Amino acid sequence: MKRPKIAVAYSGGLDTSVIVKWLQEKYNADIITVTGNLGQKKELIGVPEKAYKSGAKKVFMQNLEKEFVEEYIFPALKAGALYEHTYPMATSLGRPLLAKALAEVAKREKCTHVAHGCTGKGNDQVRFEVAVMSLAPELKVLAPLREWEFKSREEEVEYCQKHGIPVKATKDSPYSIDENIWGTSIECGILEDPMEVAPQDAYQRTVAPEKAPDHPTYVTIEFKEGVPVKLNGVKMDGVSLIHKLNDIAGANGVGRLDLVENRLVGIKSREIYEAPAAVTLHFAHRELERLTLDKETMHYKAKLANDYAAIIYNGTWFSPFRQALDAFVNETQKCVTGLVKLKLYKGNVEVAGRTSPYSLYDMKLATYTVEDTFDHSAAEGFIKIYGLPYKTVNAVNRRKFAGVKKVLKRKKR
Ligand code: ARG
Repeated sequence: MKRPKIAVAYSGGLDTSVIVKWLQEKYNADIITVTGNLGQKKELIGVPEKAYKSGAKKVFMQNLEKEFVEEYIFPALKAGALYEHTYPMATSLGRPLLAKALAEVAKREKCTHVAHGCTGKGNDQVRFEVAVMSLAPELKVLAPLREWEFKSREEEVEYCQKHGIPVKATKDSPYSIDENIWGTSIECGILEDPMEVAPQDAYQRTVAPEKAPDHPTYVTIEFKEGVPVKLNGVKMDGVSLIHKLNDIAGANGVGRLDLVENRLVGIKSREIYEAPAAVTLHFAHRELERLTLDKETMHYKAKLANDYAAIIYNGTWFSPFRQALDAFVNETQKCVTGLVKLKLYKGNVEVAGRTSPYSLYDMKLATYTVEDTFDHSAAEGFIKIYGLPYKTVNAVNRRKFAGVKKVLKRKKR
């Protein structure tokens, strides 16, 4: 039989390193690793060497950061997509892109299988596999964590030592951490108890609000059709802008989230998130929309935002529904151009000003001064007709109930 070829989504961590060796042995296969750069800072150093030492025959490092920001993060930002009104979905947004990159390499290298290191009770396995099914149904997916014999970290470490796979000597974090440019997700350890406050060492990229500077930091963000293009007056590409804003907002303790969320696989879990730029940009974008979107579009878009978030969270990124929602969102963004000034202070973001060439705010209509041009006399007729159905139905109800009372009185007698 021909030797199978398996492309593994490789992070360089313990699980995926064990996967490389384990699959090679179990399937007598050639292993190709694919690692995506989504703007995670620490993780990528030494990854190719480690992949080879774990038994990889070929190693691919893909820089996906620009594509991640422009094709995944910005559409989600424009849609206002926050899962359960809170989580900006750094992890969830990364999966379809990683799966796409993996499937592309797998097809080019004529692999029969792809493999990932997601566990059997998380959302990520679903996102990963649904994306692969959508883009390359001919590839079979392997999920070693759902079936292998290892029951603990120690057993995996032992396996590594037996096979000469380098394991970090540093004391391992008690948390499970996933990181990229849009945010960090942290779970496990003491965080599993929702009554326990997250300890300081759980946080990876933000300063504690109480340790943040005692004076506020002001930033301005300029948007063009819903996309941030300038930070503090300086034109920047999306990747640089997000990195820079992560630093500024993170230094002010902005972007920490503590969420008990509903997983797709039916359980509730508690996760800590750090997303300084994501939280700040969603806030700024929403403020600009308040100024530039008409009422009905704005209210409708808020409902759509939940559906859009569900698409991302539940792993159906490559779907006609998402494309249709994008078409609606992009139409609404034509006027979301302008500048928002923000005050960042000890974990908090406040709006400190907003302006747009397409602003619908009309001072002459809003003012209570002599400049006022609003037609007050028109309000009287408007209210008469607007309130008419309520006047009518309440009058009828009063009569109905009066009638019922009379009948009941008669029956008593
Ligand atoms: N709960 C988040 C999601 O489903 C993050 C999952 C990964 N979390 C982690 N700490 N490794 O999108």
